[in-house]
Amino acid sequence: MTATTDFEIHPASGPLPAAQRAAVLEDPGFGQTFTDHMVTMRWSAERGWHDGRLEPYGSFTLEPATSVFHYGQAMFEGMKAYRQHDGSITLFRPEENAARFNASARRMAMPELPPEVFVESLELLVSQDRGWVPEGAGRSLYLRPFMIATDPALGFTHPSRTFLFCVVASPATAYFGGGPPTSLTVWLSTSFTRAVRGGTGFAKTGGNYAGAFAAGLEATAHGCDQVVWLDAMEHSWVEEMGGMNLFFVFAREGARPRLMTPALTGTLLPGITRDSLLRLAPRLGYDAVEGQISIDEWREECAAGTLTEVFACGTAAVIAPVGAVRSERECWTVGDGRPGPITLRLREELLGIQHGSAPDPDGWVRHV
Ligand code: PLP
Ligand code: COI
Repeated sequence: MTATTDFEIHPASGPLPAAQRAAVLEDPGFGQTFTDHMVTMRWSAERGWHDGRLEPYGSFTLEPATSVFHYGQAMFEGMKAYRQHDGSITLFRPEENAARFNASARRMAMPELPPEVFVESLELLVSQDRGWVPEGAGRSLYLRPFMIATDPALGFTHPSRTFLFCVVASPATAYFGGGPPTSLTVWLSTSFTRAVRGGTGFAKTGGNYAGAFAAGLEATAHGCDQVVWLDAMEHSWVEEMGGMNLFFVFAREGARPRLMTPALTGTLLPGITRDSLLRLAPRLGYDAVEGQISIDEWREECAAGTLTEVFACGTAAVIAPVGAVRSERECWTVGDGRPGPITLRLREELLGIQHGSAPDPDGWVRHV
């Protein structure tokens, strides 16, 4: 895990004019426009990490035989830089992304990056392109660090011996829009499986997402917004959604509401938003546990009125309420189908911490 932390700085000679940038920041959407710069760094078996650069955002030239095109040895992270009310800029728990990046790297037989270099690369890009961080709750600069295998060879006897690390940044509104959240209708996929024990489900690797597109099309064809992935063996236990973890809110007579999120079995992504909410919820007066829930329990507890809210959470999505559930066989609503009060309260608190209007007792926020 050796690395040079000396990034060479090569600023863009023609950054986007401020007026055009302001027009983009008015309504950035998600992942459509990229800032003026990117960070790149190379790894080889002989030299370890080297050749770190901040340079103008632009294309790579790669041979057709490049390993990543054929065997998908690739991984990424997703995180955001937030504009605070006083104009300063923060990251949210970036060291957790650094740790997850390395967990993905180990699973994909790729080189780990020292966490301080990972964070330094983000801070470098955000500092350089700070004018690209939009203002307003729900808006942010989405950061996408990723790594690809770059050996120009088709041999499959060993992993690539060269890699490219890169960070790009894109101004973003929350994945499902910036305004008050509207409820999602979700699709229970019983014909497709996302991940199995021992597979790559916990890693943030492109193949997990490539394999999800067909189920996404199935969901769209049934009028749904997102796929809920179930366990591979029984297609019965709820795991997560394509880019988000799930929380279930149970009302209890005379007791604190209980939040439950599926336990980390190795088949789902250990979301940093998920972890933050598990820690945050008790401070707001809710119990929060990891557990398991089957689709039958989901339907029955909704019918009984004991499961009152369900929401998805993730960096891109923030917190998105789930209002209705569909599968080939059935369909039901969660509560009255509209965003529930606990969902909205958690969303407000999380965005408050991220944008600096709520206290940050755990020291999650890091100024750039
Ligand atoms: N699950 C999957 C498959 C994801 O892609 C994401 C997004 O990164 C999440 C869950 C949520 O993770 P986080 O809260 O760290 O963004
Ligand atoms: C994120 O929330 O950062 C993700 O990676 C989800 C995504 C696939 C858009």
